[in-house]
Amino acid sequence: MTDRYAVIGNPIDHSKSPLIHGLFAQATGQDMAYSKLLGETTPGGFARAVDAFRAEGGRGINVTVPFKTDAFAYATELSPDAQLAGAVNALKFEEGRVLGQNFDGIGLVRDVQANLGLSIKGRRVLILGAGGATRGALLPLARAGANAIVIANRTADKARALAQDFAPNAHGVAVQGCGLDALEDQVFDLVFNATSASLGAESLVISPSVFAPGALAYDLVYGKGLTPFLRLARDAGCSQVVDGVGMLVEQAAEAFAWWRGVRPDTRDAVAKLTVPLV
Ligand code: ATR
Repeated sequence: MTDRYAVIGNPIDHSKSPLIHGLFAQATGQDMAYSKLLGETTPGGFARAVDAFRAEGGRGINVTVPFKTDAFAYATELSPDAQLAGAVNALKFEEGRVLGQNFDGIGLVRDVQANLGLSIKGRRVLILGAGGATRGALLPLARAGANAIVIANRTADKARALAQDFAPNAHGVAVQGCGLDALEDQVFDLVFNATSASLGAESLVISPSVFAPGALAYDLVYGKGLTPFLRLARDAGCSQVVDGVGMLVEQAAEAFAWWRGVRPDTRDAVAKLTVPLV
């Protein structure tokens, strides 16, 4: 019997997950179907949609905006990454159990290390923003052995609070929080934009001197072309400027391996989804 999976979000039309999982299923010979579910944003809308999908025999679900905290509440068992992120982006259904995972940060780290061929170990990392996307990235970045992690946010107090909250789980990595305006004298090897600034028309203001020679500038969003953050990085002389398409593919591969027990090769999907940032 064909096993059923889906991605749930609102909006959901734009989602690339069916395409990615379709490529993985074909390449690994898995008998599975993967669809899109439009969740209702009314109270209980997420749970109703997922209950119905499970009742029809659904085996697992990827979760995107704005349901990652609903999925966190829905899960009966959480991975350490999901627990720390306070959000779930993949669910697996097993005889009454609902397992929740968050593969976003793991996908980010895999993209940087495996696809871009860069080391995180020993590097100085700057992450912009102190919301859900940052929360999801911290543990995997710390596990990868960053030398130091600075969280910089428009609202400085939120960055400080998050750094303090995360410190006990930081695997010995020094974690600091500050305002976006406190970066003038600091230089970083890896700079991640995890703010939602790239999604709207608002620009993101940071000092162009944060990029060390040869630094990576990485925007966690995808499909937005050269975002204001990436433009700023390029104008500052940054030679490696990338968006989050590789992260999207890698988190999907993690979910696929978790569900199916087979790790797909991601190169084909990354190549098919990568578009030049102009
Ligand atoms: P997500 O779950 O995607 O991280 P979020 O929890 O709403 O979304 O967090 C959005 C983050 O983007 C916040 O850190 C926000 O900064 P504030 O805490 O100061 O609101 C940041 N952000 C959004 N627009 C921004 C902008 N134009 N410049 C700088 N930071 C911005």
